[in-house]
Amino acid sequence: PLKTGPRHFLDLTDLSGGQLRTVLDACAEMKRHRRKGEPPPSRPLAGRMLAMVFDRPSTRTRVSFDVAMRELGGETLMLTGKEMQLGRGETVADTARVLSRYVDAIMIRILDHGMMLELARHAEVPVINGLTKLSHPCQIMADVLTFEEHRGPIKGRTVAWSGDANNVLASWAHAAARFGFRLNVAAPPQLGARPDLVAWARAEGADVHVTTDPFEAVAGADAVVTDCWVSMGDEDETHRHNLLMPYQVNAKLMAAAAKDAIFLHCLPAHRGEEVTAEVIDGPQSVVFDEAENRLHAQKGILAWCLGAVEA
Ligand code: CP
Ligand code: NVA
Repeated sequence: PLKTGPRHFLDLTDLSGGQLRTVLDACAEMKRHRRKGEPPPSRPLAGRMLAMVFDRPSTRTRVSFDVAMRELGGETLMLTGKEMQLGRGETVADTARVLSRYVDAIMIRILDHGMMLELARHAEVPVINGLTKLSHPCQIMADVLTFEEHRGPIKGRTVAWSGDANNVLASWAHAAARFGFRLNVAAPPQLGARPDLVAWARAEGADVHVTTDPFEAVAGADAVVTDCWVSMGDEDETHRHNLLMPYQVNAKLMAAAAKDAIFLHCLPAHRGEEVTAEVIDGPQSVVFDEAENRLHAQKGILAWCLGAVEA
């Protein structure tokens, strides 16, 4: 038989819609078990070790992967870029080769997307993208799970993004192609979706609409989504606040979406900047269900990467 490589989870673009649906079903199944207070059947990752490499801070990704791995019977190792020889110039390729001899999977958060890909290229175990400057695929698995719990199947529905067209938006665009929903993106021209991203999504059959008008984007939308104005690595860009203020998700903008629209935000949030307290702490907001779903999503992703779920 052909030697197949490790099952990486690097971007939603790498999996088919059917595969992503399989992973999402696994996430939902894991959640049902946990809700009933039952351990997952047979602790499918018993004896497996996940290394978590964090070159940047994290609350949700770090804790949800750690708890997910343990609840599935596995164990975790927490590493930071600075503590590793990586921080002193050891190559990513050698780091990948060495870690592959010790652990069963590697989750990495690093801004340089190319370094994440390089790690995956040289790793003999699955690599999971825990956020790069270009994408945040694990987040969007949790977000689609959250959407479907509150609003039913996402296929054919409309998700609106208002704000900086950042890494989280990129994974939404990938998901639009794979899950078959419409994505409306409102962003200032200087912070708009990358043309190659929009071109990819459209070529893959996604219904992606790009505008500079947030009201046009949210009209009739089933979910309104935003994210921080200053992502990790953008801290020096002080002009962003003025550019992004018109894209703030406030009560007036939410009122232009569908009546039963939900509000999503990957967190951490900045009340009074990208979203008002009235919206994020209001009845349409499901951001803490969304944060909880990171845990269930990580389980499906880990189980898939480690072969406990069929491809
Ligand atoms: N949403 C998210 O990835 O949060 P953390 O940065 O806390 O992991
Ligand atoms: N867009 C944000 C997401 C944080 C979870 C960032 O990259 O900092």
